[in-house]
Amino acid sequence: MKTVAEIIEQNAFSHSDLVALLAAEGNDRQLIYNKAAEVKAKYIGNKVYLRGLVEYSNKCRKNCYYCGIRLGNAKVNRYTVDDDEVVQAAKYIKQLGYGSMVLQSGELMTPSFVDAIERLLLRIHAETENTLGITLSMGEQTEETYSRWFNAGAKRYLLRIESSTKELYYKLHPDDDTHSYDIRLQALHTLRKVGYQVGSGVMIGLPFQTLDHLANDLLFLQNLDVDMVGMGPYIEHSDTPLYQYRHLLPSVEKRLELSLKMVAILRIMMKDINIAATTALQTLRADAREQAVVVGANIIMPNLTPQSFREQYFLYQNKTVVKDDAFAYHEQLEQAINAIGCEIGYNAHGDSRHYAERNMNN
Ligand code: 5AD
Ligand code: SF4
Repeated sequence: MKTVAEIIEQNAFSHSDLVALLAAEGNDRQLIYNKAAEVKAKYIGNKVYLRGLVEYSNKCRKNCYYCGIRLGNAKVNRYTVDDDEVVQAAKYIKQLGYGSMVLQSGELMTPSFVDAIERLLLRIHAETENTLGITLSMGEQTEETYSRWFNAGAKRYLLRIESSTKELYYKLHPDDDTHSYDIRLQALHTLRKVGYQVGSGVMIGLPFQTLDHLANDLLFLQNLDVDMVGMGPYIEHSDTPLYQYRHLLPSVEKRLELSLKMVAILRIMMKDINIAATTALQTLRADAREQAVVVGANIIMPNLTPQSFREQYFLYQNKTVVKDDAFAYHEQLEQAINAIGCEIGYNAHGDSRHYAERNMNN
């Protein structure tokens, strides 16, 4: 059998190689982390790019079994941030020197929602002198919608596959037209066709999930040739159907460890993509985001949703809700990033190098 030390030096990885890496413990696990840090230093460098996150609306037409803001959760107070407040947040993001923002929301497909996002994109660009890179994370939409939003100035899109294994996907979602695996996969291809930098990702440490599923996920992201990845631990929420399986969950420690290994292994596999250190990681342990940066991540998405809405965007429980003012938070974050030998990449979009390379070669 191959050792972990041998596997990490390969250029291509089989499913069984990946399962072996995911199972690594102790010194072997450290070898994976070291290799990922080495790959990152060579292909990415020590800059961490920040994207100011605005959770635009928690209204959603879907009923994903794991998510706190699912349609069926009547306890949620539904909100949509006013355009003026989004624009104000965008200006502040620019002022902080972040270079990029992410607009995220529950999935809505109504014509008025589509129009509102288009208008908002145009307005943000106009009022920030076209300086910000804008990422959208608004679920599955038609090709026409994706094109309109692209033309209005969104150049990146995040759409997690959540789990690339169909059988597990349907343990996390109702098996109906609104939650079709095939439509979600198709949406990822449509985003690429329209011209976006495409991001995807999965949840880690789900009930019923095995290392076999996670190895599938790594291969899925590689085969899709994604430009960006956001993946983090699953965190239970008591007002969701998946909560009944909480006794099947790996411990918090195990979920964190698996998440860090997923980041590190993906960095070894996909050397020049952007990988986010997610908020869910930070929720499970205060310094886990920085650890993810050490083992391969290069993007952090500080939450700049206007304070009054933050408590209503609970995808999962105990989500870190930053109560400090944004600038104090920013200073702390900068210190934490510097303490691990990294620097913030100010006033730059921090686009995926992978995307630039692909387009140069086409
Ligand atoms: N735990 C962790 N991540 C979650 N998401 C939704 N619910 C949860 C949860 N309970 C993630 C999904 C989604 C993203 C916006 O948030 O992966 O794509
Ligand atoms: Fe809606 Fe996204 Fe939550 Fe699913 S994960 S219920 S699509 S907000």
